[in-house]
Amino acid sequence: MQTQASISQNGQSHSYADFKDVFIKSNIQYYRKALEEKKEKSSHLDSQKDYFQSIIYGKNKIKLIDEEYKFDDGLIVSSTDLKGIITYANRKFCEISGYTKDELVGKNHNIIRHPHMPRVVFKELWNSLHSGNEWKGIVKNLRNDGRYYWAYSHIMPIVEDKIVIGYSATKRPVLASELSQAIELYKRLLNEESY
Ligand SMILES: Cc1cc2nc3c(=O)[nH]c(=O)nc-3n(C[C@H](O)[C@H](O)[C@H](O)COP(=O)(O)O)c2cc1C
Repeated sequence: MQTQASISQNGQSHSYADFKDVFIKSNIQYYRKALEEKKEKSSHLDSQKDYFQSIIYGKNKIKLIDEEYKFDDGLIVSSTDLKGIITYANRKFCEISGYTKDELVGKNHNIIRHPHMPRVVFKELWNSLHSGNEWKGIVKNLRNDGRYYWAYSHIMPIVEDKIVIGYSATKRPVLASELSQAIELYKRLLNEESY
């Protein structure tokens, strides 16, 4: 007795079993496609979620506070390896960023990256360093308590025996005239990047 429903094609009768493999194969293809679409959708949503979270919390998931922490005297000094991992932090860096030396050393320098900084600024920074040049510019940095501080940064390669072994940065307070220009420029760049 035939247990499967019969399917008639070109006058010939076929059982379900004859078509089973074709059905299963096409189902697998269908589910695979649906799964890929779902993955694509959810990764798009994830990246949107990440983007909005980074605006609110910064890369380091610190809740942003719209309040400046004044850096108005002294020099912040830090060094990194070739990948931007902090190898040295002076006392001023700790005081202004709110982190201890132990919390800073061994971490990527982006630990103090503020989400209001345009990505293109860091792209330019690394392009300069990778071509063996120094980089000067203004950075808005994130303290560990969510407040921000501005600094005029001078970063250069550390060279030993003609080989670049890392980078060092000195940061001084920003002048009022420099700051107003940077705020204007970064706002425009950030706006462009969000489109
Ligand atoms: C010596 C040195 C100092 C740096 N200082 C800062 C800084 O003060 N603030 C900052 O956001 N990034 C700084 N950077 C760049 C960071 O390594 C990083 O590229 C940046 O925060 C952007 O993060 P991302 O590369 O993960 O997007 C510095 C890099 C080097 C090599």
